[in-house]
Amino acid sequence: MKKVVLAYSGGLDTSCIVRWLKEQGYQVICFVADLGQGLGRGEDLAAIEERALAAGAAKVYIKDLQEEFIKDFILPALKANAIYEGKYLLATALGRPLIAKHLVQIAHKEKADLIAHGCTGKGNDQVRFEVTAAILDPKLEVLAPVREWEFKSREEEIEYARMFNIPVDVTKKKPYSIDRNIWGVSIEAGILEDLEQEPPEDAYLITKSPTYLSGYPKYIEVYFEKGVPRRLDGKAHKLKNLISELNEIGGLHGVGRSDLVENRLVGIKSREIYEAPGATILYTAHKELESLVLDRECAHFKELVALKYSELVYNGLWYSPLKKALDAFVNSTQGHVSGSVRMKLFKGNCIAVGRKSKHSLYKKELSTYGKEDKFDQKLAEGFIKIWAMPYKK
Ligand code: ARG
Repeated sequence: MKKVVLAYSGGLDTSCIVRWLKEQGYQVICFVADLGQGLGRGEDLAAIEERALAAGAAKVYIKDLQEEFIKDFILPALKANAIYEGKYLLATALGRPLIAKHLVQIAHKEKADLIAHGCTGKGNDQVRFEVTAAILDPKLEVLAPVREWEFKSREEEIEYARMFNIPVDVTKKKPYSIDRNIWGVSIEAGILEDLEQEPPEDAYLITKSPTYLSGYPKYIEVYFEKGVPRRLDGKAHKLKNLISELNEIGGLHGVGRSDLVENRLVGIKSREIYEAPGATILYTAHKELESLVLDRECAHFKELVALKYSELVYNGLWYSPLKKALDAFVNSTQGHVSGSVRMKLFKGNCIAVGRKSKHSLYKKELSTYGKEDKFDQKLAEGFIKIWAMPYKK
């Protein structure tokens, strides 16, 4: 009997996959990765494990990967200011290589021949899983049942689950496809496929609608040390708590929503909406601090790097040589990214309104229009003449 390790979420698709693989003659080991999607909050872990076993799993691994997710995936992306197509903070995309890494590890431990996932054949996630697996263990085979099985609709899957007594909860399913972790929520399908429609309020999970918020802004202060957020309003926090807290506060003020028609790697344009309150606050604050402490050349070059970095993450190339090289560049720029940024959260906006750092390159005596001015304006004349020289006919 061949052994396969499946990335299991507890939902309808992956529950059917367990059974389907078993029917194909595989021994199925389920792996549930906790990236802060709300396991143990909305749904208890015991129920997920039970469901996997009821579906036919021989064994279930459940791992809380939140710390690793934050340290090794979120922080590098935050330091790089990686944002895809100007709007997507990459929560889903960052999670996939981590899940794949653990799938491969468990496969080794269990001496399994294959790994499997529940992604469709049209998305980015299949690419991220499989490219990661190919890099980490080129010999490991990958199965993607959704790309090949016979089910054409959700109803057929529900029927299949009933037939095998798999206890799936089909009532609470929203008409959207949702992926969630501590760095954000990705929501697609259903009415969102109509590009002309504003997303309905019920599509959002963790942010309040800016439309109905009351008139008071909320001020917060985030302190960074070498590019890493450490304190909120002067109080030291573990990163996980800091991000959760910011998700909470930001969500209350409608911060971090975006609506994007994006370019998938497989060539499809698709519309997805995102919620990333904590990520948005941290990203904005981090960028603000960089404008204070990085010299112009570094800051401008880093924007190019951010663009490339986001493409690599989006396209599943987390473990690529270029991504590693870009990390080295990004890290070399973070030594002075320490200081505080005061943020104003107001009706869906997140605005940096104050900043300070002991590494600040801002010199008031140079920029001031007041009488403390130390800038020798006479020098400007020669500077401009030389600067303009090549352009003179
Ligand atoms: N479009 C996002 C990405 O490619 C999220 C994909 C998963 N989204 C979902 N709603 N299940 O990274």
